[in-house]
Amino acid sequence: MNSHAKIPAHVAIIMDGNGRWAASRGMDRTRGHARGADSVRACIVAAITAGVRYVTFYAFSTENWGRPAGEVDSLMELLCDSVVRETPELIERGVRVVAIGDREGLPEKVRRHIDRIEGDTASGSKLTIVLAVNYSSRNEIARAAARIATKITTGELSPENVTEETLSAELFTASIPDPDLLIRTGGECRLSNFLLWQSAYAELYFTPVMWPDFGEREFAAALEEYAGRERRFGNIQPTQNN
Ligand code: IPE
Ligand code: IPE
Ligand code: MG
Repeated sequence: MNSHAKIPAHVAIIMDGNGRWAASRGMDRTRGHARGADSVRACIVAAITAGVRYVTFYAFSTENWGRPAGEVDSLMELLCDSVVRETPELIERGVRVVAIGDREGLPEKVRRHIDRIEGDTASGSKLTIVLAVNYSSRNEIARAAARIATKITTGELSPENVTEETLSAELFTASIPDPDLLIRTGGECRLSNFLLWQSAYAELYFTPVMWPDFGEREFAAALEEYAGRERRFGNIQPTQNN
């Protein structure tokens, strides 16, 4: 695996298993989330080392509001604390942070922290971190459809000109390439409303490792597995072409 083409440009991660990691150690679930923040840091370092250009972290789904208020509050606090603590190092490493998801539905304090880290890291050019917060893929697609409908109503767009590109351009991820590799930790094999449109041709990697135990070595193992995959995009192997 030495060709650059074998390094995914965009890795998207469903960080799952924090609660079970903590419970199996007799700890509170929030301790698992706190340890999960260390895994985020480790993956950022590993991504820069490998030459990955985009990493998306699924931090909070719109469905996660259904959890007990204490857990939701501590997740929001952890997000704000991490933003404050990590910003200087991210700037130093040339990392840009952007957020996707329904920002209006977040507490004002969280919105402020997200705006701040986006502004403070805007000139980072080595790696882009995409934080999916209050994110729902179906909601994102419905919102895009509504925006297209508005453009049709105002005459800015005609129905026959609605293409895949038109829809992609209305998603939160408009300026971000589709993920090449999608990792889910924690043993579940599902997408949980994450990047459904964007992952049409992503390579999927499911691992039983709980997110707090996922570090640089596990990230490298996922990249290695990816390098061995053959992406055909509906075509046939090049060797069978003639
Ligand atoms: C992922 O870990 C973090 C979030 C969903 C915010 P979980 O909290 O889902 O951990 P498990 O799946 O219950 O172990
Ligand atoms: C997905 O994990 C959401 C995040 C990682 C933020 P969940 O733990 O919420 O997903 P389900 O409930 O197992 O599908
Ligand atoms: Mg979970």
